[in-house]
Amino acid sequence: MVSEYNMKKIAAEHATKYVQAGMKIGLGTGSTAYYAILKIGEMVRDGLSIQAVATSEASEKLAVEQGIPLIPLREVDRLDLTIDGADELDDQLRLIKGGGGALLREKITAFHSERLVIVADDTKTVTQLGAFPLPVEIVPFAYEWTIQSLTQLGCTVQIRHKPDKGFYVTDNGNYIADCKFQQIPQPEELSSRIGSLPGVVEHGLFIGMADQAIIGCQDGTVRILH
Ligand code: A5P
Repeated sequence: MVSEYNMKKIAAEHATKYVQAGMKIGLGTGSTAYYAILKIGEMVRDGLSIQAVATSEASEKLAVEQGIPLIPLREVDRLDLTIDGADELDDQLRLIKGGGGALLREKITAFHSERLVIVADDTKTVTQLGAFPLPVEIVPFAYEWTIQSLTQLGCTVQIRHKPDKGFYVTDNGNYIADCKFQQIPQPEELSSRIGSLPGVVEHGLFIGMADQAIIGCQDGTVRILH
């Protein structure tokens, strides 16, 4: 059923209520975080003083267009709050991220944030992770071997392509292997197994990182998960 409400926008705008003057904010990536960046831009234009770090070149461009002051990473010790999207999340706030290809910068940013608030529409909540193919960022060198190692973990792997032709290349110059597991009953175990494979830079399982998720629902309300 298609909701008459923009569930992504409702969730993202709700999360911006946590943004306070003087904060250092991590700006997420994707079509939901987009609305948070637009709203933060509006708040900045209305006089709110914050500084921000972007999780992708696309979000950086949007932040600049919105007039949000960006700070170089070397000048930031820790971020107060990051608002970001997710491709799947379960009731323990375990996430799959990286559908937009920005998982590496997103994970680094989340790790260095006091608080990670996830914004998503209700279609993203699942009882078990895995229907969404898990994005894994891999180095181009010997990528065929890395794909072989990933396949041995019990998934089918597709290397991500650009819409026209050629491999999709991340902001960090790497490839993305989309790993279809169908079900991920033990995300913690899979996380460490993938993380230990040579050639893997980072993967899209975010475990124990999100503090809260704001879910935009079909009836126009939000549901908060802790
Ligand atoms: C970007 O790499 C992703 O992690 C996004 O945060 C995630 O894919 C959610 O994107 P949407 O909000 O566009 O669904």
